[in-house]
Amino acid sequence: MLRVEGIDVFYGKVQALYHVDFEVHEGETVSIIGSNGAGKSTLMKTIMGINKTAKGSIEFKSQKINNLPTNKIVKKGLIYIPEGREIFPKMTVLDNLKMGAYSKRYSMAQMRGKLEEMFEIYPRLKERQSQLAGSLSGGEQQMLAIARGLMSTPEMIMFDEPSLGLAPVIVDEMFDTIQRIKQLLKIPIIIVEQNAYMAMKASDRTYVMEVGHIVNSGKSEKLLDSPDIKKAYLGA
Ligand SMILES: Nc1ncnc2c1ncn2[C@@H]1O[C@H](COP(=O)(O)OP(=O)(O)OP(=O)(O)O)[C@@H](O)[C@H]1O
Ligand SMILES: [Mg+2]
Repeated sequence: MLRVEGIDVFYGKVQALYHVDFEVHEGETVSIIGSNGAGKSTLMKTIMGINKTAKGSIEFKSQKINNLPTNKIVKKGLIYIPEGREIFPKMTVLDNLKMGAYSKRYSMAQMRGKLEEMFEIYPRLKERQSQLAGSLSGGEQQMLAIARGLMSTPEMIMFDEPSLGLAPVIVDEMFDTIQRIKQLLKIPIIIVEQNAYMAMKASDRTYVMEVGHIVNSGKSEKLLDSPDIKKAYLGA
């Protein structure tokens, strides 16, 4: 469904990605792990058209998307939930959700249906729909950021560090809801995480990034058992 082939990406003169190959198939959950500065967010942003490719190609549903403007890529059904919760703090929860659907021109009935779907995934947002988003807890803001992305009925969703800054019990909750999103929407999911254990547990396949390169990839189950991965990423 998504095929990234041999991409090079630069920030000015500094190369951030080197010949990266990356694939996501129908129905898969894929994780990308790697330490700070490895290039995980750069890869996501490049898929979304925020960074340009100097070389290589990116195809989504067999159509070339590299270097298209981000709004065109979003229209094709790809969404990205960035690191850090980018919500509108001075707007209510409900208005934040509606903003997520602005490109869709839903009818009132469709909008209501979508909101109900989000409240089914995150009942807490239903209770708090008229509260200002900025006054939600960190975990709730993360839920809102995700739900807002889902309002546009994506065909594939990419999460960048969904567990960043959350307390351990909220991290568990976060990964539970990712599973629920998967069951409910049946769309492929990409999870970028420094929490390598959780990401591998939650995914079918994993890619490992180091300084702009993909250095390893395979079934998550297998990688979880690999001595190299244990040593480098699981603190064993
Ligand atoms: N806008 C930018 N301009 C210049 N350099 C950048 C920019 N964004 C990222 N970089 C650099 O590119 C490299 C990869 O960064 P990136 O954000 O992709 O890493 P990451 O794997 O997502 O790390 P983290 O886990 O810390 O989020 C880093 O060296 C970073 O400093
Ligand atoms: Mg990052």
